[in-house]
Amino acid sequence: MKTIFFYILLGLTTSFSVVAQSNAIKTGDDGKSWEITTHSAGYRLEVSSSGGVNAAYYGNRLNLERPGRATVSEIPVRGGYVSATPMLEVVFPDGVRDVELEYKASEITAIDGYPALKIVQCDKFYPLEITSCIRVLPEYDMIEKWVTVTNTGKKGAIRIENLLSGSVSLPKDAYELTHYSGVWGYEFVPQTTKLTQGTKTIQVKDFKSYGSSSFMVRPEGENDKYAGKVWFGSLSYSGNWRLDFDKSFAGNVQIVGGMNFWDQEVNLKPGQSLTTPRMLFGYTEQGVEGVTMSLASYAREKVLPVAHREQIRPVLYNSWYATTFNVNEEHQLALARVAKELGVEMFVIDDGWFKGRVNDKAGLGDWTVDRNKFPDGLKPMIEKINAMGLDFGIWIEPEMVNPNSDLYRAHPDWVFHFPNRQRHEGRNQLMLNLAREDVCQYLYKYISDLLKENNIKFIKWDMNKVLTDPGFPSAPTDEQRAVRIKYVENLYRLVETLRKEFPEVWFENCSSGGGRIDLAMMSRFDFNWTSDNTDPVDRIFIQDSYLTLFPANSMISWVTHEDWHRMEPSLEFKFDVSMAGVLGVGYDITQWDEGQKKIATEKIAQYKAIRETVQKGNVYRIVSPHEGNRSILQYTDKSQKKAVVFVYQLAEYPANSTTETQRSPLVKLRRLSPDARYQIEGIKDAYSGKFLMEVGVEFPMRGAFKSRIFVVSAVE
Ligand code: DGJ
Repeated sequence: MKTIFFYILLGLTTSFSVVAQSNAIKTGDDGKSWEITTHSAGYRLEVSSSGGVNAAYYGNRLNLERPGRATVSEIPVRGGYVSATPMLEVVFPDGVRDVELEYKASEITAIDGYPALKIVQCDKFYPLEITSCIRVLPEYDMIEKWVTVTNTGKKGAIRIENLLSGSVSLPKDAYELTHYSGVWGYEFVPQTTKLTQGTKTIQVKDFKSYGSSSFMVRPEGENDKYAGKVWFGSLSYSGNWRLDFDKSFAGNVQIVGGMNFWDQEVNLKPGQSLTTPRMLFGYTEQGVEGVTMSLASYAREKVLPVAHREQIRPVLYNSWYATTFNVNEEHQLALARVAKELGVEMFVIDDGWFKGRVNDKAGLGDWTVDRNKFPDGLKPMIEKINAMGLDFGIWIEPEMVNPNSDLYRAHPDWVFHFPNRQRHEGRNQLMLNLAREDVCQYLYKYISDLLKENNIKFIKWDMNKVLTDPGFPSAPTDEQRAVRIKYVENLYRLVETLRKEFPEVWFENCSSGGGRIDLAMMSRFDFNWTSDNTDPVDRIFIQDSYLTLFPANSMISWVTHEDWHRMEPSLEFKFDVSMAGVLGVGYDITQWDEGQKKIATEKIAQYKAIRETVQKGNVYRIVSPHEGNRSILQYTDKSQKKAVVFVYQLAEYPANSTTETQRSPLVKLRRLSPDARYQIEGIKDAYSGKFLMEVGVEFPMRGAFKSRIFVVSAVE
């Protein structure tokens, strides 16, 4: 990588080149109004009488039949009446803080195969241009919004105090918001709250979120899983982000989101631009299932890195839970030998392999192999592992440094810090300031050397500390508060450069578990580590949420000895939980007896037989663990000829003891082919798809912490 630079500030004034018409975006005869449609949604924009661009409420596409003026500003700004949460807040060189936008130009173009509407507006007096882009994904029922702001003047910087990615407004109604938040070990907990007059803000201020920027808004009381209106969205950004749900007294809700400008500003010099990340907005009439169908399919089919997008994911072994920092060649080889015997395909050494890394107090930053643990280096071990027929992967945490490391001793100024202020450590580590070019070059060099010198096929990229002390004292004063934006841009650039150079390497995204999972990471990493909590019961809940929003082939799940609640679940149960995504094993398998090995071998073989459907199929959450004492997941392949149903029993109550036991035991499957006949493994007789969907079957299961996987196959 020759140069990594702060490219978002270097754009030029927009010039349109590609012109593409499409049914998804129609321009009115006057050339100053537009209708956007997806499968279910319609969105109208027009130039208003005051010259700016307004939008109508976002929702059912039939609304487009009703003539009505677009009344909400497409780019709400600070200026004039404060009727909405602004997307744009600036200070001009003379101190004026209000913006007045007017329409200048528009074009329909194509971006990565999808139609996009670009609208240019300019301030009526000052040299500020803003281009808003709306990319339409009709089959996913989604639109993507982002904006670029440019200083078109000749002198003086425009201070950007806030620039969000996109805003939509919902028609008047009573609404409930569901979002996903959490803490370490308990990621993606769904939270539902009524929206009342005022603003509900969800935000990240320290680069870590154990939740998601994905959200759903539904009319209050509507909770049919398979039907009903849902507005949803997600932000493609991995730094600090913010979502606002702003409800007026009248009942309309504005949803607006983007980078979090808390303690952040960008000074745009003449000719410079700032482009926001993309914000996804969607609308479905198919309840939460419709949201999953849109978001997860979109991520699986269009977002995950192209290099491996279609590839079946390997079965992994990861050494973290078996060894923590106590790694050496002999034990790693012993683990690999057993892993191979069980059917594992990729062996990953986790933390602990590099210089001085005897515990979490030292070593981060010194990315050379620890010769005390591996006297001959990594190479001979990797060769032996490869000779067993296993691919090899390795853990790194590039963005961090321990103060007790050669790197920090040589470059104490490479971390985020303020002069005269404490450097706040977390897990005995500090965060490198990736906004610095020299830091990026250093990281690029050590990772690319590692990959060039060793046959490494998998990188687990960890990030364990939250961002503190976000100072960049050596940067010009007027650039210092843009440091977080620069950091994220350089992180993306670094990963992209590495992936381009080493296209065969798989990348896993980890941040003390699921601390940094979003669509932007997903476009650069093949997998996510969703949680350090590998207790299978907790995992059922975490996975239920994850699979609501993201695809199963991006979710790594290991079988480990962890049993956080002393429930003593069986090994079979643990495997069944981990088989709902990309299967991994994390036990010290050298200690296993023949019985454990037999179970693992059989389970891994079973996983390989179903993984095509698990990894590439659509996931239907038939019963959520939040609803009762079970979790049932159905994965169906595209042809609808094969489905796999995971049934997890979390409790067993005597008949008639609870309302739940008085309900029908029949489980209705989803989205099979109604006329096809299906045989369910372990259940007598074949049934039509219509029967399975409308009447349902009883899965023969008893007892708490019991699980079974049922393969459903179409019969001729
Ligand atoms: C945190 C990760 O989430 C774990 O899986 C493991 O890689 C440790 N870091 C290693 O330090």
